Amino acid sequence: MNEVLPPEKILQWLLTAGADENTENAPVNRFERREQPAFQAFETVPLQRTAAENIVLPQASSLEELKNLIAGFDKCPLKATATNMVFGAGNPHAKLMIIGEAPGAEEDKQGLPFVGASGHLLDLMLKSIGLNRSDVYITNILPWRPPGNRKPSEDEVSLFTPFVRCHIALIRPQILLLLGGSAVSALMNTSAGITKTRGHWMTYSAGDINIQVMASFHPAFLLRTPAQKKLAWRDFLSVKKALEI
Ligand code: URA
Repeated sequence: MNEVLPPEKILQWLLTAGADENTENAPVNRFERREQPAFQAFETVPLQRTAAENIVLPQASSLEELKNLIAGFDKCPLKATATNMVFGAGNPHAKLMIIGEAPGAEEDKQGLPFVGASGHLLDLMLKSIGLNRSDVYITNILPWRPPGNRKPSEDEVSLFTPFVRCHIALIRPQILLLLGGSAVSALMNTSAGITKTRGHWMTYSAGDINIQVMASFHPAFLLRTPAQKKLAWRDFLSVKKALEI
């Protein structure tokens, strides 16, 4: 009977034989982030390609147009389970644009971002730096509520990120405040989590746009983990300083 060699012995043998590279039939990393095939996903949406970065963006020249594009975009099953689309709210001329993750139950009911428990905390945090809702513009990465408030999947996030980029291009804020890891990983091209990225100024660049970015903990996380509020407080103070208020 043939002896069955354990995998490490086979690898050892291959290395001794000089094989130091995998070519055909290499193992496939099924956990690797899959790139969204943009053209297929957006076949019903007018697109523009930004010259500098070769990013494909939905083409909308006003918030109303973008809202209609998202409302008519049927490639995400979340639309079927949600009650209302949550597009954005606040002052479209605001210097500060805040981006969260996805609507929860109350947002889904009212069709407005951050109107539930997280929203109340966000209001308090904004107030502490002298801002209220009419001073900021707020949206989320996802416009539809994931059932049961589950975390959005990577596919859902990558499907809507081009719309968010278009949203940012229309608002053109001076500062972006990203709340939670989903917004950071969607927009900042980093795999570093929110604990690493929060509190450090970053730059969001797309075409001719360069915007200062501050990331901070999501208010829902702060409600569960109040001990972290002191760090979020520091982040909000940095934003206050940058806005010169
Ligand atoms: N959490 C979010 O990220 N966004 C909302 O609008 C509400 C809760």
